[in-house]
Amino acid sequence: MALAVLLLAVCVLYSWETQGSSDVTTVFVQKGKNLHLDVNKPVVLVEDTEFSWTYNNNSNVVRLFNDTRTRISDSYKGRVEFSVKNYSLILKNVQHSDSGYYTALIAGVKHQPVAEYKIIIQDPVSQFQLSVNSVSNSTESCNLTVTCSTEDSLISSTFRCDTQTCNQEGGEQSEVTTSGSSLRVYLLNDFIICNHSNQVSWTRDMKEIQHFCSLTAGFSLYLVRTVVLSVGLIIMVSAVISVHLMKRLNK
Ligand SMILES: *[C@@H]1O[C@H](CO)[C@@H](O)[C@H](O)[C@H]1NC(C)=O
Ligand SMILES: *[C@@H]1O[C@H](CO)[C@@H](O)[C@H](O)[C@H]1NC(C)=O
Ligand SMILES: *[C@@H]1O[C@H](CO)[C@@H](O)[C@H](O)[C@H]1NC(C)=O
Repeated sequence: MALAVLLLAVCVLYSWETQGSSDVTTVFVQKGKNLHLDVNKPVVLVEDTEFSWTYNNNSNVVRLFNDTRTRISDSYKGRVEFSVKNYSLILKNVQHSDSGYYTALIAGVKHQPVAEYKIIIQDPVSQFQLSVNSVSNSTESCNLTVTCSTEDSLISSTFRCDTQTCNQEGGEQSEVTTSGSSLRVYLLNDFIICNHSNQVSWTRDMKEIQHFCSLTAGFSLYLVRTVVLSVGLIIMVSAVISVHLMKRLNK
């Protein structure tokens, strides 16, 4: 019992410590969008202290002195908005080169970080193609193979349908592309869907299965019956006419 309590205490302490020490928030931002960074801890600036947002721990983005003078670094002029009220930073139109660590720091006798972010800039996912490669179709079953492909990745998947239902062979198929996005092919109701996504965007394309398969058993049966009936009718009518003709010829 005592041991259990001790273990629990150690665990709680450990998780509390790791939480306290790894305060870096990872944020993905789409290239060209604005990056918005907030400070959620209280900031108190006393004499001889300054607040700053730093990039990769070695360059300043903006500095705020305790007399409320702010100084935006030359390389960020024109694309940074800084709020002296709540210390939030907006970096506009981010590029890949803006990926990295952003730290809000109170610098005085000692440096005290009040916010830390790891920023990853991503391109929106590329366009892709979902195409139906082969269809083998009968009135009772229909098999089709699709491929979903981007410039650096490809998934192929087979769907089998009977008159009641469709199944994807092996279930949902997915793949992580070399650029880190993910490609998924799955079945939703009567649609085959391919979804290409990363942390900042997604696109999808879909194909309706009915468009490729003629699996309406009720309808085919009706068709067969109609054909049989029509043919029967034609034969009967012909027979009647023939009989009449024969009679006339005989006269
Ligand atoms: C801080 O202020 C800016 C501009 O006034 C605002 O856009 C932002 O949402 C504020 N952030 C917080 C956390 O309140
Ligand atoms: C579809 O595949 C199943 C299983 O391989 C097979 O039994 C069926 O005959 C196929 N249907 C067609 C129309 O090819
Ligand atoms: C596509 O995938 C992304 C990431 O998993 C998800 O957020 C999004 O809702 C999906 N879109 C559709 C239409 O399924």
